[in-house]
Amino acid sequence: MPILVAPSLLAADFTRLADEVAAVEQAGADWLHLDVMDGRFVPNISFGPVVVKALRPLTKMPFDVHLMIAPADPYLAAFAEAGADHLLVHPEAGPHLHRTLQAIRALGCRAGVVLNPATPVEHVATVLDLLDIVLVMSVNPGFGGQKFIDSQLAKIAAVRAMIAASGRDIRLEVDGGIDAATARRCIAAGADTFVAGTSVFHSGDYRAAIAGLRGDS
Ligand code: DX5
Ligand code: ZN
Repeated sequence: MPILVAPSLLAADFTRLADEVAAVEQAGADWLHLDVMDGRFVPNISFGPVVVKALRPLTKMPFDVHLMIAPADPYLAAFAEAGADHLLVHPEAGPHLHRTLQAIRALGCRAGVVLNPATPVEHVATVLDLLDIVLVMSVNPGFGGQKFIDSQLAKIAAVRAMIAASGRDIRLEVDGGIDAATARRCIAAGADTFVAGTSVFHSGDYRAAIAGLRGDS
């Protein structure tokens, strides 16, 4: 599968969001990753559906909406209506992951599960039939600019084996501390999709940064 790149808006210049979205799309980004934080599930607060909705008309890129909120269920419809294409939830965000994934699909969105560094792969094993994306966190969620956690490479390999055994078309995405060097190691372990905030938006050349994540440099 081709490598896909989803720049994380969290690292963009928030005084110029429209320009930043246009710039990464022009530079070859595949998806736009939107980090939603509630100050409770994670120790930071970012933005909600109002911002997603405002950005929606500005780009054709699919919106990859990472919900770091608990509970997530009461807000799924609001994010779908705001223009989310993918809704990614953490298993710890509610008691009924299977029901949450059914709800996401019923809203017409692609469904993803996010595994925190300490969350075992078993959380996705019994719901693979409902998944389009598995997102492996390679940092603890809440902040951009953190260091990639090496122990997650083994998890990426384990998830890749599960996806292969399922025979389903599921993207294996990695989020946190991703740059050209860590992306290369994740690709070797079986990843095919990368979230990158700092290494794209804090670079001087978005096109080169995105190409570097694909291994094209
Ligand atoms: C962290 C978020 C990430 C973050 C990644 O909670 O899920 O998407 O923006 O930022 P970098 O790429 O800087 O690690
Ligand atoms: Zn994220």
